[in-house]
Amino acid sequence: MNRPKENRLPKGALEEKERIMEAVIQNSAVAIFVLNAQHKVIYWNTACEELTGCKAKGLLGTGNHWKAFYDHYRPCVADIIIDNKFSEMPKLYKDYSKSTLIRNGLHAEGWHPQLHGKDRYLAFEAAPIYDADGKLIAAVETLLDISEFKKAEKESQENEQKMRAVFNQTFQFIGLLTLEGMLIQVNRAALDLIGSEASKVLGKPFWEAPWWTHSPELQEKVRQAVKKAAGGKFIRFEATHLDKEGVVHNVDFSLKPVKDKDEKIIFLLPEGRDITEFLQAERLLKESEQDLQKCYIEFKQTQAELIQAEKMAALGRLASNLAHEIKNPLAINLQGLEYLKSILPPDKAYIDTIESLIKSNLRADKILKDLLNFARPAAPLILEEVDIPLLINSSLFFVDPQSNLNNVTLTRQFAPDLPKVKLDYNQMQQVLINIFINAFDAMPQGGRITVTASQVEDVLKRKILQIVISDTGCGIKENDINRIFEPFFSTKKETGGTGLGLAISKAIIESHKGAIGAESKYGEGTSVTIDLPII
Ligand SMILES: Nc1ncnc2c1ncn2[C@@H]1O[C@H](COP(=O)(O)OP(=O)(O)OP(=O)(O)O)[C@@H](O)[C@H]1O
Ligand SMILES: [Mg+2]
Repeated sequence: MNRPKENRLPKGALEEKERIMEAVIQNSAVAIFVLNAQHKVIYWNTACEELTGCKAKGLLGTGNHWKAFYDHYRPCVADIIIDNKFSEMPKLYKDYSKSTLIRNGLHAEGWHPQLHGKDRYLAFEAAPIYDADGKLIAAVETLLDISEFKKAEKESQENEQKMRAVFNQTFQFIGLLTLEGMLIQVNRAALDLIGSEASKVLGKPFWEAPWWTHSPELQEKVRQAVKKAAGGKFIRFEATHLDKEGVVHNVDFSLKPVKDKDEKIIFLLPEGRDITEFLQAERLLKESEQDLQKCYIEFKQTQAELIQAEKMAALGRLASNLAHEIKNPLAINLQGLEYLKSILPPDKAYIDTIESLIKSNLRADKILKDLLNFARPAAPLILEEVDIPLLINSSLFFVDPQSNLNNVTLTRQFAPDLPKVKLDYNQMQQVLINIFINAFDAMPQGGRITVTASQVEDVLKRKILQIVISDTGCGIKENDINRIFEPFFSTKKETGGTGLGLAISKAIIESHKGAIGAESKYGEGTSVTIDLPII
């Protein structure tokens, strides 16, 4: 042990030095107290008073220093030093160690609730003081309030834990790479996707990890991305990952350089967002957009048809007015022609001309009658329970003579359990006759007409009566099929067709709340279907 030099100082100088030492301790900004070998307080400086709220006056010369920190007796670190009982430390302090600053010194720390009005975290540093002979004569203890530091440390630990929780629990795939592309961190979501463990992927090149191995092109792309990101670029592209079951996931992948406060790139941050469901939803959205577009087009078509129907109705009204205007002059014409026929000499040339004039006038008269018939406000329905086979047979009876003439075979198929339906017998007969005549017209060389009647279900699962009249005639051109129910649409103008048969039939069927439609193959035949509600 070095002999203290003070001993060699003259007495006055020694006292002076002691006073200075005392003043240094007293005025030190660090809280300090000193115990003598008998555990009595010999120094308790102002900073110590400030920190503990205990005045030196009440403590100097006593062994009550512990009262400043505890409510029951227990040794302080300085007491342990004096008694040389280091083995006591674990019982007294959770956090303790040998002092790194002073030889034979001890360090301890801990919370002291409500110490001078505040919860404080104190760090104690105690060291022995020896005399010239190396005998322990005192122990000095310094106290530092490191509460703020401790709080900051705790907060930073909590933040770190929170960050880690976010890192691991986010649905995003996140990792951390060295600038060379070695994987040094990876989160739970990314590992769960491939059913792997951190130990199996960390420390290896990122592009060699299982997220990429299904595609050598992607591996190369990632390798290039690492190079670019290490050079400061932000990279983003759509990629795919195969999960542990081999299911393909679409991923929005990005690679960002992470910089320190001096703007130096220290890591690369790979992130992946699973966008499989998003892409699916996008696809569905596109499909429904297309459906919507289709609906819109259909709506436009229907609108156009409605406008057309409206025009037709107006045309019908106009035609009926015209017909009334023409009817009388026509009647006068006919009468005049009949009169001329009766008074002119029976010269063949006269007679032929007059006959042909009469024929033309009669034809014009028929057209006018049809027209007026069509334009006339619909007669109120006279509904009665109708036996369907009877209705069909009686309608056929009117046109039947043609079948013999035209070499047409008739087939009837009536379901045995046909319900009785309430219909206007005469109007329905008119409909069927129109359709049968059309069928005969379509087969000048003969053929087959098949009539079926049965009970079926419509799209709304309601029971309806269905009558189908098919022929093996000339059929209807594709361009014409949508027009055959239009008034005055006729391909038989040359042979006297007015083009009102089906238009009138449609009006009658619709007044029965039914529907009529036709299907046809040009050159093969036509089927007309009538659906009637069962009431
Ligand atoms: N069974 C069918 N086979 C082929 N074409 C048909 C058939 N039924 C109707 N059509 C076509 O539909 C058009 C319209 O028929 P619609 O019965 O309304 O008039 P039309 O027969 O020409 O004249 P009319 O007013 O004298 O009946 C016909 O001209 C014809 O082109
Ligand atoms: Mg017709």
